[in-house]
Amino acid sequence: MPVTAAATAASAAHAPAPADFEALRRQDPQIGEVIVGETARQAEGLQLIAAENFTSPAVLAALGSPLANKYAEGYPGARHHGGCELVDAAERIAVERAAGLFGAEHANVQPHSGSSAVLAAYAALLRPGDTVLAMGLAYGGHLTHGSPSNFSGRWFDFVGYGVDAETGLIDYEEVNALAHRDRPKAIVCGSISYPRHPDYAAFREIADEVGACLIADAAHPMGLVAGGAAPSPVPYADVVCATTHKVLRGPRGGMILCGADLAERIDRAVFPFTQGGAQMHTIAAKAVAFGEAATPAFTEYAHQVVANARVLADALAAEGLEVLTGGTDTHLVVVDPAPLGVDGRTARGRLAAAGLVLDTCALPYGDGGRGIRLGTAAVTTQGMRETEMARVAALFAAAVREGNGEGGESIRRVRTEVRELAGRFPPYPG
Ligand SMILES: Cc1ncc(COP(=O)(O)O)c(C=O)c1O
Repeated sequence: MPVTAAATAASAAHAPAPADFEALRRQDPQIGEVIVGETARQAEGLQLIAAENFTSPAVLAALGSPLANKYAEGYPGARHHGGCELVDAAERIAVERAAGLFGAEHANVQPHSGSSAVLAAYAALLRPGDTVLAMGLAYGGHLTHGSPSNFSGRWFDFVGYGVDAETGLIDYEEVNALAHRDRPKAIVCGSISYPRHPDYAAFREIADEVGACLIADAAHPMGLVAGGAAPSPVPYADVVCATTHKVLRGPRGGMILCGADLAERIDRAVFPFTQGGAQMHTIAAKAVAFGEAATPAFTEYAHQVVANARVLADALAAEGLEVLTGGTDTHLVVVDPAPLGVDGRTARGRLAAAGLVLDTCALPYGDGGRGIRLGTAAVTTQGMRETEMARVAALFAAAVREGNGEGGESIRRVRTEVRELAGRFPPYPG
């Protein structure tokens, strides 16, 4: 698709947000200003946080609808509250769309977040004290994969696998050896910063060999899976947990997919075991997002997200940054800025001053230094393509390098160029 047509497709999906911000501003100027200011901040910089995206006005409308007022403990047709007939319909639609989109036998769309989905999956399949094998936090495992400051590390005995020091890729022989040594009850595959596709078939084989269940925490790639731009964990994992935000471009929230055999255990683990009333406005917004993700336009979007990330990775490498794993298959790019003379934290500060918003992340080697994680989901929603990704890489390198000296004036110059680029691709035109 030519550039202009792609930009039009993105813009058409992102007409002005319908909420009445002016009325809110009059009633509550303090919060009104925060919302208006944040809306401007999102539009004026480049949002390269890999977990973020711009939802459609339809998703925002569902989130801001009176469904937010409704209490609905339980599941459709079996609620603890009256008056749930219409929100029941919304949840049934969301479940049907999620199951259809991902080819799953069962979907639970109630988890309030990705972490809540993982908590419920553990609650359904494990008992406190069980051993779980997951990617180590130093290599990109999420907090829910065994952090001592999280319920997971407190209640379960986590063993961490890593990545090969040379290639940055998951070492399946190590996973296999640890699984045979520690005999985990569950193996978790999924990460916050792994830019390659996990080999779900290899994980399944290892899990079967040691009698473990396989939980895919696919929060990051699930939007790519929906758009056919990444392999699906659904045929391999016993349970798939995901967020509905990130590349999937829905509201902030979680979901769980599983086979019919585990449906009842999963549902009970979500409600009443780990959650109370379902958030019906969010569930309606999830349904809207699943509907959008089933369209040809979303398939095209998901492939463009990956194409953009590949160009960004190559262009950052050409600027002298070390690109982990040598590139990407997904929306994620992880770089070590050390060749430019700075660590991740310093680089992030300079980039933020220039309007490039992104995260640091763990680097899987050396002394625990920080790298930079970027993602292309949001900028692709704005309609940016390969040409703009090359420009983003140049601005990234300029901000990091020019911050080396006085900063000040040169960072301001990069900031002006960032604002000009972002201004050509407004997330919510008008
Ligand atoms: C792999 C993975 N699991 C779980 C989560 C948690 O999602 P949430 O922030 O919605 O709790 C994330 C979020 O980034 C994630 O990347």
